[in-house]
Amino acid sequence: MTVDLLLGLQWGDEGKGKIVDVLTSKYDIIARFQGGPNAGHTLEFDGIKHVLRTIPSGIFHEKSINVIGNGVVIDPVVFQKEIEGLAKFNLDITSKLIISRKAHLILPTHRLLDAASETAKGKAKIGSTLKGIGPTYMDKTGRNGIRVGDIELADFKERYRALADKHEAMINFYNVNIQYNLAELEKEFFESIEDLKKLTFIDSEEYLYQAQKAGKSILAEGAQGSLLDIDFGTYPFVTSSNTTAAGACTGLGIAPNQIGEVYGIFKAYTTRVGSGPFPTELFDEVGTAMAKIGNEFGSVTGRQRRCGWLDLVALKYAVQVNGVTQLMMMKGDVLSGFDTLKVATSYNYKGNEISHLPYNIEEENVTPIYKSFKGWEADLTGMTTYDQLPVELKEYIQFIEDELQIPIKIVSVGPDRKQTIMK
Ligand code: GDP
Ligand code: IMO
Ligand code: MG
Repeated sequence: MTVDLLLGLQWGDEGKGKIVDVLTSKYDIIARFQGGPNAGHTLEFDGIKHVLRTIPSGIFHEKSINVIGNGVVIDPVVFQKEIEGLAKFNLDITSKLIISRKAHLILPTHRLLDAASETAKGKAKIGSTLKGIGPTYMDKTGRNGIRVGDIELADFKERYRALADKHEAMINFYNVNIQYNLAELEKEFFESIEDLKKLTFIDSEEYLYQAQKAGKSILAEGAQGSLLDIDFGTYPFVTSSNTTAAGACTGLGIAPNQIGEVYGIFKAYTTRVGSGPFPTELFDEVGTAMAKIGNEFGSVTGRQRRCGWLDLVALKYAVQVNGVTQLMMMKGDVLSGFDTLKVATSYNYKGNEISHLPYNIEEENVTPIYKSFKGWEADLTGMTTYDQLPVELKEYIQFIEDELQIPIKIVSVGPDRKQTIMK
């Protein structure tokens, strides 16, 4: 059986966690393929709200197996706290959650290096979540990293020491004021490693290959969003992994010809947290209202998310790079009550109108060209069928579908699992 992918088409926080949870009943296996604890995937059901960081969003379903793939970076300390947070749900974590031996470990010094690097950048900082993501992927590509499988080796502690010592020298090189107590951080790290060892480590590419052969259905869960992709995002204001469809192949060992559906998730408007260009960003009361109504505060850092209109130029690019086959539109309910809605359909780029995402999308190069839509008043949060939706929203949806040439199959009208309209 082929593997379906689910990924964010904007700058993250599109609502991936919610939709993976909604779709999980159709899948035997949910597999995360990249990112790490910089992700915060929110799930809501039965009055419970839960934010997952490294654990796949299928964990609450009784039958599904959840795989953390080789492309993911794991911080054992954050991971252990995540597991502890799940204790009250009585999930059989040890049999439902398995981890690739090839996934890289985030060391305490990776987090410190992240902080040192951001501090040294000053005003040019990325706005990183400071979870050590960048430094860990740097060690991976630099061939210095420590992997989950290394925990099983006799010289794990020596490997750890050699890398951590090197990191300390690098932190000193940055010459910034970072306060830390490494002995304490290491104590916490090694305790969490002991907890991590209670879980099953697997050769996940082989596991997933055999699962496919046995006819199991697999959903690959992305983190971040396409515009944060290390290659295709708004570099350097991106994360350090491939968040796009190709990342699922390298992050799980899935062959490209085994990919089935590609579900692309987007908000009915746009948000971004951290630094970097954002052509349709709103700096007025409309943007403030979106942030307030949409409760746009980061699930990981609590930072307020920047808000703006839907950007079809950027969305088209993401659809193209990922080969999206079905779209899911989130947070439609947040747009209720605005008189007029706008959608960017092209850009004025250095005096010329263009409809593709260019190399430079900074404010001085790009001005979005908008099409306006009539808004609607109705509260959508209790609606359960597509027919109930206001005609203005249906027109908005139809326009997006026509522009992107991909059907919108799900319209989400609230954070709860049940507030999901299938079209
Ligand atoms: P993810 O990182 O893509 O999983 O998204 P996050 O969980 O970081 O952010 C999405 C936020 O929007 C969470 O607080 C969700 O509970 C919430 N959410 C998801 N879908 C909807 C929706 O349709 N309407 C509203 N109002 N909130 C939603
Ligand atoms: P989910 O999976 C939104 C952003 C950070 C920063 C940049 C680099 O919940 O959608 P990093 O910590 O990777 O060095 O940060 O990427 N970022 C996210 N923004 N959602 C996320 O994940 C993000 N993960 C990273 O804010 O701008
Ligand atoms: Mg998130």
